[in-house]
Amino acid sequence: MVRLTRFSLLSSIHNLHQCLDSLLQANKAWANRMKANDPMFFEEHKKGHAPKILWIGCSDARVPANEMIGEPPGSVFVHRNIANQVVQTDFNCMSVIQYAVDVLQVKHIIVCGHYDCGGVKAALTNVDHKSPLENWLRNIRDTYRLHKDELDAIKDLTGRQRRLVELNVVEQCLNIFKTAVVQKRRVQTHFDALEPGSDIPFSTPVIHAFVYEPTTGEATKLRVDFKQYLTELHDIYDLYKMEKEEEPTPLPTTMIQDKDGNEECVTDVLTKSLSGEGDM
Ligand code: CO
Repeated sequence: MVRLTRFSLLSSIHNLHQCLDSLLQANKAWANRMKANDPMFFEEHKKGHAPKILWIGCSDARVPANEMIGEPPGSVFVHRNIANQVVQTDFNCMSVIQYAVDVLQVKHIIVCGHYDCGGVKAALTNVDHKSPLENWLRNIRDTYRLHKDELDAIKDLTGRQRRLVELNVVEQCLNIFKTAVVQKRRVQTHFDALEPGSDIPFSTPVIHAFVYEPTTGEATKLRVDFKQYLTELHDIYDLYKMEKEEEPTPLPTTMIQDKDGNEECVTDVLTKSLSGEGDM
């Protein structure tokens, strides 16, 4: 254990102040650069922000949201946590999604995981990381449980970590798709997209799964089979129970009305909403 003498402690505090000073100096230089490049840049921000993308990423310092997709300040609404989790009881993440979808009406939600993720690696060890961190990592252990056969078959530990990173991203995309706020918005915008002359001819928000390779700086898109998910699990997660049939019938039990007053099963609408170009 390193023992701090009074001198070294004062020296450390002095260095910290110097470090903070240099950060603030760097900030002023950055602000000046931005103004030099575009004199109206900060003037535009007086109007507020209207980002089209919600980014849910890992807190890992190597995975900066805006920079890696070349987006300037003002264009990405960002939520980051350890291992880019979307947990239904996390008021923080749920509030971010609600605000982004309901108020900002973002068109895209990107969940970006990354290889060599410390959270995923920690969840692959039989170690108690203590509360609250261990509770958080338990969500990743649960994702392992869902895909145990596939993951156990990968004997190389790094290969298994990398695959769990990918499966974790896909699982979080499905967690977003389960939320009431996203289901509702996709149904609304599906009908809007069918209107002649619609600005956006596909349902929104579109949910994308990205995985980032920190050693190359490149991200790739993962395929998420939302249609299969809807087919297999909609009787559990569909939320619009507007009308239920008297007799227990297999399906459909979740009905909504389109703009002409015709009733449709919410799953049929959500499935059709996935056929737009935005989900390709
Ligand atoms: Co990470």
